Amino acid sequence: MRYPSAWLDELRMRADIVQIVSSYVPLKKSGRRYTGLCPFHNEKTPSFSVDAQKQLYYCFGCKAGGSVIQFVMDIEHLDFQEAVRFLAEQLRMPLPELQNDPGYEKRRSLKERIYLANQAAAKLYHQNLWEPQGGEVLAYLKGRGLTDAVIRRFGIGAATGSLRIGDALEKEGFTQEELLAAGLTHGHEQKAQDMFFQRAVFPIIDAYGNVLGFGGRAMGDAKPKYLNTADTPAFNKRYHVFAANLLRKEKGLKRVVLVEGYMDVVALSQFGVAGAAATLGTALTQEQARLLSRFAPEIHLCYDGDAAGQNATLRGLEVLESQRVRTRALDIPGGLDPDEFIRQNGADAFLALKPISPVSYRIRREKEKYDLGTEDGRTEYAKACAIILKAVREPVELENHLKQLSVDTGYTREVLLKQMGATKETRNTYMPRRTGFRRNAKAEKPADMSSSTVLALLSAGKLPKDVITPEDFEDPDLKLIAEALIRGQTLGALLDENATDSLRQAVGAILSVEIDDEQAMNMAQECFAQAKRVKLEKELEEIERRVQNYSNEDSLKQAQLQRSLEIMQQLKALKLSRKSPL
Ligand code: UTP
Ligand code: MN
Repeated sequence: MRYPSAWLDELRMRADIVQIVSSYVPLKKSGRRYTGLCPFHNEKTPSFSVDAQKQLYYCFGCKAGGSVIQFVMDIEHLDFQEAVRFLAEQLRMPLPELQNDPGYEKRRSLKERIYLANQAAAKLYHQNLWEPQGGEVLAYLKGRGLTDAVIRRFGIGAATGSLRIGDALEKEGFTQEELLAAGLTHGHEQKAQDMFFQRAVFPIIDAYGNVLGFGGRAMGDAKPKYLNTADTPAFNKRYHVFAANLLRKEKGLKRVVLVEGYMDVVALSQFGVAGAAATLGTALTQEQARLLSRFAPEIHLCYDGDAAGQNATLRGLEVLESQRVRTRALDIPGGLDPDEFIRQNGADAFLALKPISPVSYRIRREKEKYDLGTEDGRTEYAKACAIILKAVREPVELENHLKQLSVDTGYTREVLLKQMGATKETRNTYMPRRTGFRRNAKAEKPADMSSSTVLALLSAGKLPKDVITPEDFEDPDLKLIAEALIRGQTLGALLDENATDSLRQAVGAILSVEIDDEQAMNMAQECFAQAKRVKLEKELEEIERRVQNYSNEDSLKQAQLQRSLEIMQQLKALKLSRKSPL
């Protein structure tokens, strides 16, 4: 069920995006756009921009973007329908009846069926935990110190005993196909088997309450220790974190504590530490960093205290810095993981861990590598730190580090400064990567710069719609955008229907095109010519194929030959007018 698209268009039109965004973020007019500091990640120079004409916002830093509805969803942590109601209320627009739209239903339905199946499964697993046949898992969880309250809070369940989740869900009306797609069963449809068996199961729930999948902990030492739902049409590990549902409920959260494991999240929550979340058995991705940055102004990495955890922390800090998120590391002593640490030492000891800056964390890790009792060790350590310190922008912070380093190595601060100047920019330099749009977009999609220009011109009404077809575009996102623009849909409406990161980025590229730019016009013309060339060449081929079937006297053949002559002339003209290749 959904709201009628004409009504949604009106809502998007009436809700002036500049005004709505301004009530959260101070905006300054600059040319065609309004700019400000992005409310979705931490930044000092504005990369957030609102396009009044297109009624879109976009952040070139963290690549958040979309219509006014998306903005309200992100800033108020609402789902689509809630955001629509929120806006309608402000605008005093009466809500229409929800409509049935079969096309839309079909596109959405598998994903939604998976959510429903997962939700039903989570309920059955959780109920099963309190049954006699769940006793083994319950005892295991209790043995690890979990309380009933925290088990309920996370909806932990038991895939044990005679519970056959596949059979049970089939009885509830789900098809085998849906259960396979959800990753709840595996194998062939004829004899599909339950994915989770003899395991404690942790439902993975997103900020909107959708059950995306499960992590299953084996009892004792069985292998693999954790089994996770594989990626499905409704779930991609890169884009989600464990416990996002609980993060959303925490108001005024100061920091997200990002840990490695399900049990770490559960333990921190049980001990009253707010804001815990975990990635899903994979390294932290850019998308997860962005997602997390929307829940709190800082992210504290709190990985296991062993070597693997420390290396993951170094990598995680880089990912977070590249998204320009304010970040700190929590160093857990004794090689423990957060779960073990807080159970042994209590919440106060955990809260007393000092969050350290990325630079301090890197220096601390370097320090362990060298023997500072030897001259060689001190020299190498000083060199390594010089590279790290090049990223420090604040003079006072740099001074603090230099003082300490001088004490540790015996070099004067002048020598250390010189060393910093001497080290070449290498790949080892810890420079937060700038995610300015132009460089990034080029690196990601070199061929699509000119296509973006064409679409920018199209969306600004500077190209007639009938000269372009979606097939002119290779990239699936650009194809989608072309289709939408040709049928008269706004980019905002398109993004509301297809909220994928790659589509958002493609729209961002289009928004960044300066249309008055002469070069842009030239590029567009070149693209346009290319598209036309391809079309004409196709037609020519078609004619040549057809002509073979006609006899020489056929008047149709004459007409076709005439047309092919015209085409060849047009092609020649196109080639002559052709500027230097892109
Ligand atoms: P850990 O091995 O650190 O697990 O893996 P843990 O959370 O401390 O588990 P317990 O305390 O022994 O129960 C951290 C995370 O890596 C993923 C899981 O997401 C786990 O929570 N993992 C680990 C897997 O996906 N599969 C595995 O076999 C092991
Ligand atoms: Mn553990």
